[in-house]
Amino acid sequence: MRIILFGPPGSGKGTQAEEMEKKYQVRKISLGDILRSELANATDLGLKAKTYMEKGELVPDEIINAVVEKALAENEDFILDGYPRNLTQAEYLEEICNKLNQNIDLVIYLDVDEETVIQRLSQRRVCPKCGAPYHLINMPPKNDNLCDNCNIELIQRKDDNPEVIKQRLIVYLKQSEPIINFYKNKNKLIKINATQNKEIVFKSIEKELTNAGLFAA
Ligand code: AP5
Repeated sequence: MRIILFGPPGSGKGTQAEEMEKKYQVRKISLGDILRSELANATDLGLKAKTYMEKGELVPDEIINAVVEKALAENEDFILDGYPRNLTQAEYLEEICNKLNQNIDLVIYLDVDEETVIQRLSQRRVCPKCGAPYHLINMPPKNDNLCDNCNIELIQRKDDNPEVIKQRLIVYLKQSEPIINFYKNKNKLIKINATQNKEIVFKSIEKELTNAGLFAA
């Protein structure tokens, strides 16, 4: 199974990728999580990405493409969360797949409106260790502000403040949305109404994977 989860900030890519990883035992490759972990460890890569991430801008393609190429070479099956985010990255992904003799099976486009995005991101909390996302109202942790998996205190992401959220949405509309047509033209795009609750969105994804013969219900 080689899936891309695509959608605006806050559409639920990370949330659904986590569920899919658990259920299908397929590795999730989340670019945001990889970059945040590199940053927490103060690696060269993390420090290079820092200023872009804090401003809500895309990290330069050459940095990101190298990370993805390595991850794909190590994982035959994957759920890609947060890549590609512009046409250059989409074309580069085609090249990597050709080189590795792989094919992307489906691109799942999680469609949400701007109001939902802002509501979700302003109330999001994440685990600093495993990256699991929570929502103070929609999806609170089981125990007060502690990650269900790691039992450590949840934090608010630095880029989840109103100004940076606004900039991330601008970047999405300008640079990422054109990818929708790129994959539509390849007959790989599946659009899902991602304003519904987490379980319904997951069921919709599962239905599409079953229809595509990627998962037997
Ligand atoms: P990244 O971490 O990927 O951020 P993003 O794309 O802005 O997406 P988010 O993580 O904010 O949202 P999500 O869609 O995963 O939603 P989530 O499941 O958390 O990237 C961060 C930065 O890294 C970028 O800005 C950029 O600088 C850099 N970067 C990353 N990839 C790059 C690339 N390819 N090229 C260049 N730079 C790159 O859910 C959000 C909230 O909503 C949570 O609170 C959750 O609990 C809640 N929620 C989720 N689903 C539902 C639901 N169905 N109902 C109710 N609440 C829900």
